[in-house]
Amino acid sequence: MRGKTIEILQDAMKGCYAVGAFNTSNLELTQAIVRAAKEEGSCVIQVTTNGFRYGNSRVLGKLVDNVIEAESESSKIGFHLDHGKNFDDVVSSIDAGVDSVMIDASIKSFEENIKVTKQVVEYAHKNGVTVQAELGAVPYLGREDQEIDWDAVMTNPIQAKELVERTGIDALAVGIGNAHGFFKERDVPDWDRLAEIRRLVPNTPLIMHGASDWEEENVKIAIEGGVCCFNIDTDIRVAFLSTICYETGSGCDVNDPRKLLGLARDKVQIVVKDKIRMFAGE
Ligand code: G3H
Ligand code: 13P
Ligand code: ZN
Repeated sequence: MRGKTIEILQDAMKGCYAVGAFNTSNLELTQAIVRAAKEEGSCVIQVTTNGFRYGNSRVLGKLVDNVIEAESESSKIGFHLDHGKNFDDVVSSIDAGVDSVMIDASIKSFEENIKVTKQVVEYAHKNGVTVQAELGAVPYLGREDQEIDWDAVMTNPIQAKELVERTGIDALAVGIGNAHGFFKERDVPDWDRLAEIRRLVPNTPLIMHGASDWEEENVKIAIEGGVCCFNIDTDIRVAFLSTICYETGSGCDVNDPRKLLGLARDKVQIVVKDKIRMFAGE
């Protein structure tokens, strides 16, 4: 069933565990995520601005809503806009049915980030929708052509407190050495920085983007440090596409897309189930 992202995050915070926020952009990925949640418990399903453009926001919005309604039974699933780039992205995702949005103004100056985030919070809250912002800029594999200057891109704890207080956001994406895609994380996450963020921002759910390659040990430490949600996209993409490549390469009957997409869907479901269990501490 549909649940509110913010309630799912707050329950996780209170219970000292975390949930996954999983990216979708089509029917099969949506079903895989929702079916995994049905078996393992609550999660957030999310679509990026690019995902909504790919699938058409109204079409994808209805699709996600219908799959949750039809296939998740009693597990609560929040529906979230991931990496909204501007105010218009936020408005169209709310029209498409999300209950929470991310405004990612992390590449802007601190004051500009505050300005656009505040505008989004005002509009979203009026519409019963909660808001995640990002401070620092979680890097992307493949987009950074040189070594990452971690000190420049990680979250400044004092600014994090100011951002939360001046904008009224409901959740904060943090950078402590995490990166989108595989292989580019900082050697050791900056745990002291996470502790300082938590000390200065004690009541706001903290979100870890770029969590696909995070393993159990660091996941546990991050949860103890206040992270209650891990974002997963790359692992899902890899599971989906590698299944299709493998099956195609082994010469299966490729004249029926449902056969390949169904196998890829099953593989993603397994990956998502494993993540939900790991974040829950099981
Ligand atoms: O964090 C977001 C993604 O992994 C990038 O997603 O290609 O849909 O923008 P996108
Ligand atoms: P990964 O690239 O590690 O899966 O991160 C996804 C993400 O942060 C989506 O917002
Ligand atoms: Zn992200």
